[in-house]
Amino acid sequence: MTPPHHPVNFAVLLLFLCLPAVPPAAAAADPTPTPWPPQFHATLVMDYHGNMSVADLWYDWPGGRNLHVIRYQLAADAPYYDNEWNNGTSFFYTPALRTCRSAAVGVGILRPDWLRPGAVYLGRRDAGGFDCHVWAKADFITYYEDVNTKRPVKWVFYTGRTAYVMSFEVGAVLEDAAWQAPEYCFTNNGGLGLADETTTTIAGGSSFVPRSVL
Ligand SMILES: *[C@@H]1O[C@H](CO)[C@@H](O)[C@H](O)[C@H]1NC(C)=O
Ligand SMILES: *[C@@H]1O[C@H](CO)[C@@H](O)[C@H](O)[C@H]1NC(C)=O
Repeated sequence: MTPPHHPVNFAVLLLFLCLPAVPPAAAAADPTPTPWPPQFHATLVMDYHGNMSVADLWYDWPGGRNLHVIRYQLAADAPYYDNEWNNGTSFFYTPALRTCRSAAVGVGILRPDWLRPGAVYLGRRDAGGFDCHVWAKADFITYYEDVNTKRPVKWVFYTGRTAYVMSFEVGAVLEDAAWQAPEYCFTNNGGLGLADETTTTIAGGSSFVPRSVL
């Protein structure tokens, strides 16, 4: 009686061996972007169609403020400040030239989870040797996050501007004095109070990224 059953049992065993370890129904959903830490300092190398710069990015969500200090290639002695506040005001200034412009942007800085709502997962890609999860959001940004460390590796704006994250210090906070916009931003020839004060419209309601780069 037993021998005739052997081929059947073998076939069943083969079938089990061929089944995936995790049934498709239980497969994980697409990964979601890791929220930014509430405070961090990143150094960035930025490339805008060959126009190169290095930038310090200070993100301070509890403080309601966000600062880029951008040094263009061979212009490191004249850093450009992009200082954004959660009350909707931004200041753009170059201390070496004592020039300042302000903008009433109308929205605050990016929330730590700014990428998540509406982000479309594009899969895993290599980014300069880093194995990354990649998301796109609202056709304006493609964002690469390291699969292992969850740190951002780079992001690319639809304009072609690319930011490479060279360092990422979680919890680093810039001293208060460094956030103060210079006094020439507040004179009649400076920023606020100018009749032609710029108002920037932001796609998708987010602020800091497009405010900094568009
Ligand atoms: C790069 O772009 C910035 C911002 O528009 C500009 O100030 C700078 O002069 C540019 N650099 C060169 C080499 O053109
Ligand atoms: C927003 O906050 C900054 C920093 O405190 C301040 O200089 C600016 O005037 C404020 N803007 C508005 C519209 O309140």
